[in-house]
Amino acid sequence: MALNPPGQYRDDRNLSARQRLWAHQEPYFDIVGWVLGLARVSPGTRVLDAGCGNGMYLRALEAQGVRAVGCDLSPGMLRAAGHRAVACADVSALPLRDAAFDVVLAVHMLYHVPEREAAMRELRRVLAPGGTCVVVTNGAGQLVELRALAEQAVRQAAVGWRMRPVTRTFTAENATAQLSTAFGSVTCVRPPSKPPVVIRDSGVAADYVASWGSFYQEETADAWPDVVGDVRARVQAIIDREGAFITYGDLAAFVCR
Ligand SMILES: C[S@@+](CC[C@H](N)C(=O)[O-])C[C@H]1O[C@@H](n2cnc3c(N)ncnc32)[C@H](O)[C@@H]1O
Repeated sequence: MALNPPGQYRDDRNLSARQRLWAHQEPYFDIVGWVLGLARVSPGTRVLDAGCGNGMYLRALEAQGVRAVGCDLSPGMLRAAGHRAVACADVSALPLRDAAFDVVLAVHMLYHVPEREAAMRELRRVLAPGGTCVVVTNGAGQLVELRALAEQAVRQAAVGWRMRPVTRTFTAENATAQLSTAFGSVTCVRPPSKPPVVIRDSGVAADYVASWGSFYQEETADAWPDVVGDVRARVQAIIDREGAFITYGDLAAFVCR
C-alpha cells in the first residue's frame, strides 16, 4: 500500500468526507481545540501547520488572532486552505528558516511521509528554542467497527483480507520511539474521553469508506465503489435494526520539545 497514493489529496474531497464523520461524535469532541490547547497558542505565537490539508487548524488559529502559516505537498489542498497556506512544500525538506516558529503542528500527516526521519528533523529545525511541536496520529482502535464492515465486504472477493491501517508506519503505539530520534522530550497525551461516533445516515459511513479507495483498490479485484456500496448496505441494516451504527476513534497527540 502506498503511503500517499496519487489522487488521495488531489483536492480536499477525501479529507472532507472523513471530517464529516467526526461531526457525529456524541458528545462532539473538538479535536482542533484540544490540539491547540496542547500547543498553548496565544496571539503573538508564531505557528507553522505542516501538512495543513484544507486549513481546518489554520482557520481556527486565525479566529483566535494567532499568526499562523501552513504548508502542504498538495497544490489542491493549498487551494482549499486559502490564503493562510503559504508554501507548497515537502515536510522532509522545508523551505523555511531555522527556529522560525514557536509552535509547529503536524496533525495526521507523518504516516504519509516516506522520509519520516528527515521530516521529524525538519519539524525540530524550524522550531524556536523553548518551542513546542504537536504531532497527532491514530491508534490501533481507530474505527475498528467500520473497518470490520469493509473487511467483510472485501473478503467476498479476497478471502482473509485484512485492512492494514493507513497509519500503520506511524501510530499512537510506535510514534514515541520515532519522535524521540528528533526531540529531547516527547509526551503522549490521549483525549480525556472517547465519545462514540453515532451514525444514523449510512451515506456518512459510505463516503468515509469511499475516501480510502486510493489506498486499498490495488488489494482487491472488486471495484472500490462496489465495496463502498456493500458497506453502505451493511451500515443501513444496522441502523434499521438498532437505530444507529456506532464506531470509535483512537487518537493520540505527542507534545515534543
Ligand atoms: C490526513 S491530511 C491532514 C490534514 C490536516 N493536518 C488536518 O488534520 O486536517 C494529510 C495531509 O498531509 C499532506 N502531506 C502528505 N505528505 C506530505 C509531505 N511529505 N509534506 C507535506 N504535506 C504532506 C497531504 O497532502 C494532506 O493534506
